[in-house]
Amino acid sequence: MCGIVAYLGEKQAYPILINGLRRLEYRGYDSAGVALLADDQLTIYKCQGKVSDLEAHINGRSTVANLGIGHTRWATHGPPNDVNAHPHQGTSGDLALIHNGIIENYAPIKEELVHRGHVFKSDTDTEVLVHLIDDIQRSEGVDLAEAVRLALANVVGAYAIVVIDRKNPDVMVAARKSSPLVIGLGEGEFFCASDATPIVEHTKNVVYMEDGEIAVLDRRQGLKIRNIKNQVKTPFIQELELHLEALEKGGYDHFMLKEIHEQSRSIRDSMRGRLNLAKGEVVLGGIKDYEQKFVNAKRILIVGCGTSWHAGMVGEYLFEEFARIPVEVEYASEFRYRNPVVNEDDIVIAISQSGETADTLAAIELAKGRGATIIGICNVVGSSIARVTHAGSYTHAGPEIGVASTKAFTAQVTVLTLMALMIGQKKGTLIGGNFHRLLNELDAIPDKVQKVLKTEAQIKYIADIYKDAPNALYLGRGYTFPVALEGALKLKEISYIHAEGYPAAEMKHGPIALIDDSMPVFVIATKGASYEKVVSNIQEVKARKGRIIAIVTEGDTVVKDLADHVIEIPETADPLVPLLSVVPLQLISYHIAVMRGCNVDQPRNLAKSVTVE
Ligand code: G6P
Repeated sequence: MCGIVAYLGEKQAYPILINGLRRLEYRGYDSAGVALLADDQLTIYKCQGKVSDLEAHINGRSTVANLGIGHTRWATHGPPNDVNAHPHQGTSGDLALIHNGIIENYAPIKEELVHRGHVFKSDTDTEVLVHLIDDIQRSEGVDLAEAVRLALANVVGAYAIVVIDRKNPDVMVAARKSSPLVIGLGEGEFFCASDATPIVEHTKNVVYMEDGEIAVLDRRQGLKIRNIKNQVKTPFIQELELHLEALEKGGYDHFMLKEIHEQSRSIRDSMRGRLNLAKGEVVLGGIKDYEQKFVNAKRILIVGCGTSWHAGMVGEYLFEEFARIPVEVEYASEFRYRNPVVNEDDIVIAISQSGETADTLAAIELAKGRGATIIGICNVVGSSIARVTHAGSYTHAGPEIGVASTKAFTAQVTVLTLMALMIGQKKGTLIGGNFHRLLNELDAIPDKVQKVLKTEAQIKYIADIYKDAPNALYLGRGYTFPVALEGALKLKEISYIHAEGYPAAEMKHGPIALIDDSMPVFVIATKGASYEKVVSNIQEVKARKGRIIAIVTEGDTVVKDLADHVIEIPETADPLVPLLSVVPLQLISYHIAVMRGCNVDQPRNLAKSVTVE
């Protein structure tokens, strides 16, 4: 939540900041702002709304500066308005600060500062921090970096910050704890950002800051990093593997549509070098050293949030079926706030697209503290979760920018499938023919996804019929129950239609009361173990005049006779059906949202990377 970007160098800062903010807008879009420093003058422009609103607000005014910071906000403390927009300033007016995170003990600090004569303008926790740094700088007579260090020693919470000082145009100071921050090192220039996307077109050399580190970026002295205890740290410079094209819409109207259409490729990328048909094996290099631990595991816990939690539910079915290991899937936010039984024999799989979700990170810390082995499944390389886990496998889906997750879900499910297959084979619970049949089926999935995408015109037609429905129900059974949950989440997130996902048989215990002739019921009714049962559930809906939109296996005739609409997907093994059946549901949500005039890539109130609890 909240995106921050900063530039110090010879070039004009403003275009770099605006471009960077556009890339970071997925992190929040309640307000945006920049602070520019030139000729000993700090100029701040900020306003409620999106980055485009900020540009309109600035239009025509001077932006000349080669040092600047920028912020796009997802509101926590204080409503989204002009005053609460970042950057914030302290009493002296010399400092400008941007912040991603939450200062939890802002209230007592604020009280003390008010007592000392500071006057606050906003409702934000962030303003407390800049006043504190300002106060320390002046009362202790220390430079900016030291004032930041001393201030942060008093702060409880999460932060990625960048601060600049009107009196020192050669320096910017950045710090992080529990919120991501990347430094880019160019020729005589520095960048800071919440992720590498604003940096990639300027330099490939980056340093991912560690928790508790404070970086001083100085035109003359270069980059120096210390920790909060004032110990010098050696920056670890890495080369970015990100490519600019991956961050563009590539001719599609929205990132979400592009990402839905990328799934054939992204699933293939998730399997690349891991699935070897010729040798008949699955190799996940990242968890190789932990194979035996998996084989001996008495239990697997899977934690995640949102769509990642849904992928985890598919993982539960996969691991239990292939590897015969009991699995519990938990919302990270629930897991961390009870007193879960976790011990050294447990394996915890943490799933996160961004690798930054605060609740998932906290759940990992808790489980790690109790001795469990933590395996990560993340998309963003170098992200916090990828770094705190013992081992893991990246999903390699490429950057996902649309706030509603699509290709990350199928990539997560692909990696979970590979993991469960690998462990099942090692353990001997998934033998011979079945293992090889599944490998072949998995290898065929990308081509089948491509085929599913060809149903888009038909899906658009269905979307047009149901776009004004106030409610929708999604039903699935077995492997497709999590898909029903995910389908409902997609519709809610981007079209603001109330939708619920249910296990098809559970419908009788409540939701059936909602069914009438205006209720669209999306049912995944593919051929497989539960097919007949789901057909009975469809009959139950029809008897109450519900409108059935069924996802069926190619060539199905039974459901075709019952349903109002059918969308055919190619036949595959039961455990792989989620990878195909979720695609039409993603497309339906997308087209309904577009037809309703919703902002598909930036739905209201949401953010892609939830770095607050
Ligand atoms: C937010 C996003 C979702 C995502 C969830 C978990 O709610 O809008 O798309 O599924 O966070 O994020 P993660 O990055 O941990 O997968």
